[in-house]
Order: sequence, then C-alpha cells, then structure tokens
Amino acid sequence: MQPGVRVSPSLMCADLCRLEDEVRRLEEVGADFLHFDLMDAHFTPNMPLGLEMIRRLRARTELEFDIHLMVQNNDLFVEWLLPIGVQMISVHAESALHLDRTLDAIRSAGVMAGVALNPATPLSALEYALERMDFLMLMTVNPGFAGQVIVPSAWRKIEDARRMLRDRGFVVPIEVDGNVSFANIPRMVAAGADILVAGSSSLFAPGATLKENMVRLREAAGDGMSDRCSR
Ligand code: DX5
Ligand code: ZN
Repeated sequence: MQPGVRVSPSLMCADLCRLEDEVRRLEEVGADFLHFDLMDAHFTPNMPLGLEMIRRLRARTELEFDIHLMVQNNDLFVEWLLPIGVQMISVHAESALHLDRTLDAIRSAGVMAGVALNPATPLSALEYALERMDFLMLMTVNPGFAGQVIVPSAWRKIEDARRMLRDRGFVVPIEVDGNVSFANIPRMVAAGADILVAGSSSLFAPGATLKENMVRLREAAGDGMSDRCSR
C-alpha cells in the first residue's frame, strides 16, 4: 500500500460475540490500529463498546489502540483510559469545556492527542488547538452509528482541513470516520485523508473475507494516493 495511508478497523463493526478471534484476524490482515468508538449515550445516542472491553483486549494484542471519545465528559474518560495503555485518543471539540487542557493532559501521558469534529463543525474550532494536536479526526457521518452515508460537505471539509493544516505549518495526519467505503476511499485519500476508519462499508462489508476486503481497501487507498500525488 502507498506510504502514509493507514487503516484503523472500527471494532464496533466487528463480531462482538467473537471479539478476540476478530482481533486476531485483524492482526493477520495487517490492520495498523484498532479503532474503538467509546460513547456515553449522551453525546451520541448509542453505546456500542465499553471500557472493560478495551481493558481486556489490551492484554491480548500488541496493536495500537485508537480511541475515539464521543462523550460529554472527556476528562473523566481520559482519566479512565490512560492507565489502560492506549496510543491515540481523540476528543470532540463540541463537548470539550477546556480543549487545550484536555489535549495537553493526553499528550503529557505520552499518548497522541486528536481533535474530533462533527460534520457541521467549522475548522475554525481548531484554530487555537493546533499546537496541541497530533492528529485531526473528521467525522464524515453524524457520529454514533455504523452503516450511514457520507454527509455532502465531507469532501470539501477534508480538502479544506488539509489546506488549513498545511498553510499553518501543522502537517498532522487526518483521520476520517464514517462510510469509508470502497467507492469513497480514493476520493477521501486524494482529498487528504491519511488514516481510514474502516467499518461496515469496507473492511467489515458482507460477502467477502476480511482479507479480501483489506486487499480491496488498500487498492482503493492506492488509487487515491496516486491521484493526490498528481495534484
Ligand atoms: C460512526 C463510527 C464509525 C463508522 C463505522 O460513528 O464511528 O465506526 O461509521 O463504519 P461505517 O460507516 O463504514 O459503517
Ligand atoms: Zn469513530
């Protein structure tokens, strides 16, 4: 696969009744991270995964954990997560009372700090958090549920974000989350996406094995990278 594009399988789309087997298969097909959507049923009307599951899985795999917090109380969940041993935590700017302090706390623990934005949230929300950001998480669907369709503004938002980060000299990875489908991946990558949250519309799509889907996903990412490089 082209350098730079990495795959973070969305565990909420895995077979949660056979989770350890699923993680073993994700290791075998070359997942770069594991994406955990941690929701409190308030920030988003859903709660697919829990802390104890993350804690138990930590002891069973070496893969890096990419935690996407969709909660009202970011600092509480960060406090609970840090002792587990995760590598990336993204918090939503929309629920952050003290975003700078929260990002600083994540980074001070040696964990990559990310800012997540809902689809309609302007990039201006990042303006004074750039110095604390190790990556940007763009929701390309409204958060909470798998199986949705990408929101129309997502395409230009990825491009605008890439341009904003480049113009300000903060070239950090952009992670995209939501309907990262085989059809959407080339355009997402060409627009500037570096980390793909792979869920039910690609890696866990029915009718093919994880391995077949991962091959197809990486090919789609390669197409996008070629298009990005030619721009
Ligand atoms: C949405 C979730 C994602 C993702 C699932 O809130 O954060 O994990 O949408 O993948 P898709 O969209 O492909 O079903
Ligand atoms: Zn997510």
